[in-house]
Amino acid sequence: MSSSGEAELLHTFKGIPFTTRSSPELLKSLHTFDAREDDVLLVSYPKSGTHWLAGVITKLYNTQVTVTSPIEFGDVSQLEELNKLSSKRIIPTHLDYNMLPPNFKNKKCKMIYISRNPKDTAVSMFHYYRDNPNLPTVDTWTAFFDLFLKGNVVCGSWFDHFLSWEQHEDEKNILFLFYEDMKKDLPKVVKEISLFLSLNVSDEDVQDICEKSSFSEMKNDTEKENSDPTHTVCALTSNRKLIFRKGAVGDWKNYFTPKQNIRFQEIFNEKMKLSKL
Ligand code: A3P
Repeated sequence: MSSSGEAELLHTFKGIPFTTRSSPELLKSLHTFDAREDDVLLVSYPKSGTHWLAGVITKLYNTQVTVTSPIEFGDVSQLEELNKLSSKRIIPTHLDYNMLPPNFKNKKCKMIYISRNPKDTAVSMFHYYRDNPNLPTVDTWTAFFDLFLKGNVVCGSWFDHFLSWEQHEDEKNILFLFYEDMKKDLPKVVKEISLFLSLNVSDEDVQDICEKSSFSEMKNDTEKENSDPTHTVCALTSNRKLIFRKGAVGDWKNYFTPKQNIRFQEIFNEKMKLSKL
């Protein structure tokens, strides 16, 4: 990570790096946030397929829903803005489970956590770092790989994030999804989501939603609508064009050296020894 001036792009709150797009005051105020019972949280570590999932979810509803900006994005006025919304709220967040406003937990709001092979997540995040002016510069993949493994990246350690949520996997109001499952059989995952959200969706609708949610369709849509900068569900950029890069499973193989792969695997095995993954 290069240093001059760029250190100011990030700040640390409760041990986790955030960009300055998340003000410390907002982060401090989150615990007082008033959730509504029908809020749906869309949770992810960055670069796990959040926009894909958001695209699917919005197409599932035929009533008015608003995908808000991420709860940790902006300054304290963000919380007032969210309070003012009259429609049903789909609220994205990259927050660790422990930082989530307690009201969402107390009210048993529905939460969908999407995860992805951390090796692909790392590669996707490397490109995001390179292309996104809100994030510090990284010069090489090797440098980024080290930062990622140490958790010295925005939103902190992938392992800590995943584990904080996985501990709650069995709670009925939390649905765990995997990017790779969406790639393998999107209709099956779409049906699973509709069941979880208690939405009645026909097989025809599922088919239609899947067609409209393909990587190429979503990328094309973005190119058309990019003039609207409010359309991201990522607290790290408003530029949707940065989101749709390759949309593939296994791209890590084009980046990881055999040595890096062994090191990653060792750390994965150590950190995830209590995980079901
Ligand atoms: P890549 O950088 O590997 O291409 P997020 O939305 O959490 O920021 O995640 C972005 C990643 O999801 C990017 O991965 C992006 O290409 C991928 N993605 C977005 N929409 C997708 C889709 N419809 N199908 C498959 N992958 C998609």
